[in-house]
Amino acid sequence: MAISDNLHDDIEEILIGAEQLQARVRELAAAVSADYRGKDVLLLGILKGAVMFMVDLSRQMEIPLELDFMAISSYGNSTESSGVVRILKDLEAPIAGKHVLVVEDIIDTGLTLRYLMESLQQRGPASVRVCALLDKAKTRDKVVEPAYLGFNIPDRFVVGYGLDYAQKYRNLPYIGVLKPSVYREE
Ligand code: IMP
Ligand code: MG
Repeated sequence: MAISDNLHDDIEEILIGAEQLQARVRELAAAVSADYRGKDVLLLGILKGAVMFMVDLSRQMEIPLELDFMAISSYGNSTESSGVVRILKDLEAPIAGKHVLVVEDIIDTGLTLRYLMESLQQRGPASVRVCALLDKAKTRDKVVEPAYLGFNIPDRFVVGYGLDYAQKYRNLPYIGVLKPSVYREE
């Protein structure tokens, strides 16, 4: 794998620019704030991909809220989801009676979220819904429908704004597609 000294040099195409991302995040924050006003809300970010989205989203919200994080890993290789997931870091506090909004970077097969939602439902929250930044336009059984969605994108592997390839590129301010040379063994 060959990663350039400047990450931007490895991007073939920008799918969603930084300003477009921020504008959409503002809209989502306004919608979530309106829906959850007066409720005991917990934003639950899924590490590490959702970090940028979670931070920007929550900074645009003016209602009282709590933040927590979970880390989950799917077994198997990194580019395909197996649906078998393992909790690497769990919530710090109980969620009984709380309105939980899961903040996720991207829904691909939806299997990760399905497993997570089942696990959360068993803990007695007042509600659990999903706010996803991206959803891949795929022919699949929609196993989990996000209550809030940033963008539908084509079924391509994307990086940036939290999303990684081999743990890199998360710090790019936009969503982009990598040049094929990055994947090539050199
Ligand atoms: P799912 O279980 O197939 O929905 O997998 C979702 C997870 O796979 C996301 O939370 C991401 O961590 C990862 N993922 C899926 N597609 C991409 C992508 O295009 N780029 C980077 N990570 C991805
Ligand atoms: Mg993820």
